[in-house]
Amino acid sequence: MKKPTTLTDFILQEGRRHKEATGRFTLLMNYIQEAGKIIASHIKKAGLTDILGKSGRTNISGDEVQKLDEFSNQLIINTLLESGLVHALASEELEEPIYSKAGGEYTVFFDPLDGSSNIDININVGTIFSIYHKSSNVLQEGKKQVAAGYIIYGSSVMLVYTTGQGVHMFTLDPSMGSFLLSHRDIKIPDSGNIYSINEAYAKLYSKGLNDYLRSLKEGEKKYKLRYIGAMVADIHRTLLKGGIFIYPEDKKHPNGKLRLMYEVNPMSMLIEQAGGLSRSRKSNPMLIVPKEIHQRVPVALGSTEEVKNYLKFI
Ligand code: AHG
Ligand code: MN
Ligand code: MN
Repeated sequence: MKKPTTLTDFILQEGRRHKEATGRFTLLMNYIQEAGKIIASHIKKAGLTDILGKSGRTNISGDEVQKLDEFSNQLIINTLLESGLVHALASEELEEPIYSKAGGEYTVFFDPLDGSSNIDININVGTIFSIYHKSSNVLQEGKKQVAAGYIIYGSSVMLVYTTGQGVHMFTLDPSMGSFLLSHRDIKIPDSGNIYSINEAYAKLYSKGLNDYLRSLKEGEKKYKLRYIGAMVADIHRTLLKGGIFIYPEDKKHPNGKLRLMYEVNPMSMLIEQAGGLSRSRKSNPMLIVPKEIHQRVPVALGSTEEVKNYLKFI
C-alpha cells in the first residue's frame, strides 16, 4: 500500500526542486493548513453552539461581521504571528495591516471567511490567502504573489493552492486529520457552459454586459446559471467545470465589490495557473498597482474562451 501524499509531503517535494528553498514556506503553509482545520471543525459545529449569526459590527468595507468572521480572523492572525514567519499580515476584516516584530520574510493577505452570509444556512464558505515576499511597501502587484490559494469548507474540506507551478487540490481526510493530494495540476476546461453573476443587479449593469448576458441566454450554446454568492465556492466550481464568474462594476458600485488584495489577485493567480483567464475591465488584475489595502476592482475570470467572448461585449 502506497502512503497517500499529504500537503506537507507535496510542498516538501516541490521545495526540493528549488535549491534556494529554505523550508520556511513549507512551515508557513503548515500553519495555514492548521488554521484551516480548526476553522473547519468550528464550522461543523455551527448549528450546535453559539457561533451563528451577526456580531453586531460592520467591517471597514461596510459588511456585517458574522461571529465566525471574527473567530476565523483572530485565529489566522494569532496563528501567523505565532509562526514567526510573517513580516506583515493584512485581512479583509482589519482596518490596517499588522506588522510582526519577529522579523519574518512573508506578507500574507487573507479573507478569513469568504461568503460568510452563507454560514447560517449551511452552504459553502471559504478562506482565501495570498502570500508575498516582504517588501518595504505592504502593497505589491498580484504578479508578485509567491503563492495563493483557498480552503473551501464544503461537503468535504479542500485546500487548493499554487506557487506558480500549477494548481493542486488536497482533501481533508477527517479520520487522519490530514489534507491528502486529490487533484494534481488541474486544468480548467477551455470553455464551459456555466455563467455565474448576480443577475438580479442587471438594471445597474452596462448595456454591453446586458447584451452579453442576453447572448448567453438566446444563443445556440445552452448555458446554465449558477451563483452561490461565496466567491470561493463559485471559483472552485469554475476551476473544475469551466465557465465564467463575473463580479462587474455597476451604476452604484463603480469598482464592483470584490477586493483586489484578498479575493481578486489570489483567485486570478489560481485561474491563470490552471490555464484560464482573468480580466479586470480589459486587463490582467495582477498588473494593477494597488493603491490601498481594501481596494475593490471589477473582475471576470474562468475558461479562456468564455472570458474572451465576454471581453467582446464590454
Ligand atoms: P465576504 O463574505 O468575504 O464579504 O465576501 C462575499 C463576497 C463574495 O464571496 C461573493 O462572490 C460576493 O460577496 C457576493 O456578493 P453579492 O451578494 O453582491 O452577489
Ligand atoms: Mn470574501
Ligand atoms: Mn470575508
